Amino acid sequence: MRDGSKQLPITGRAQHDGRAVPGAADEGDIRRLVMVFYDEARRDVLLGPIFDEVFGDWDAHYDTMCDFWSSAVLRTGRYSGRPASAHFGLGLTEAHFERWLSLWERVARRELGESKAAPFVEMGRRMVRAMMNVTGMLN
Ligand code: HEM
Repeated sequence: MRDGSKQLPITGRAQHDGRAVPGAADEGDIRRLVMVFYDEARRDVLLGPIFDEVFGDWDAHYDTMCDFWSSAVLRTGRYSGRPASAHFGLGLTEAHFERWLSLWERVARRELGESKAAPFVEMGRRMVRAMMNVTGMLN
């Protein structure tokens, strides 16, 4: 199935009760993480050219990515797109996903510290596995 409708770790369903969890990341942490991550990803020799080719409006992408991570980790239900479908046709290989993940883990730990970063690292790993699967790279 190549239409991205296969079940991915994120459902977009709201499960958030509105209370902040002590010691956990909040929306401000997510925005900072997203901004710093993409700042570095854009300068990465492997990932940068792909982002530069596609994005005219980086502000819109930052907003989408904040919604995505807010839904994925804080369960706010703000994102309801199909993340895998957006990546078909970009020519992504295992090397791109591996680079994405190592950069994501490094930036998340550095910006948030080990314990706050943990759910972002875990979800990043699950997303990469799922996206490589639906884009056919592991099959
Ligand atoms: C392997 C390296 C990756 C590259 C080069 C990449 C690049 C891109 C590009 C160019 C887009 C915009 C597509 C478009 O609007 O036409 C996009 C969208 C997106 N990416 Fe990635 N991506 C990568 C990995 C990931 C991973 C691992 C995740 C999840 C953890 C992710 C989450 C998203 C989301 C949520 C969107 C927005 C989809 C929407 O519009 O709803 N990406 N990505």
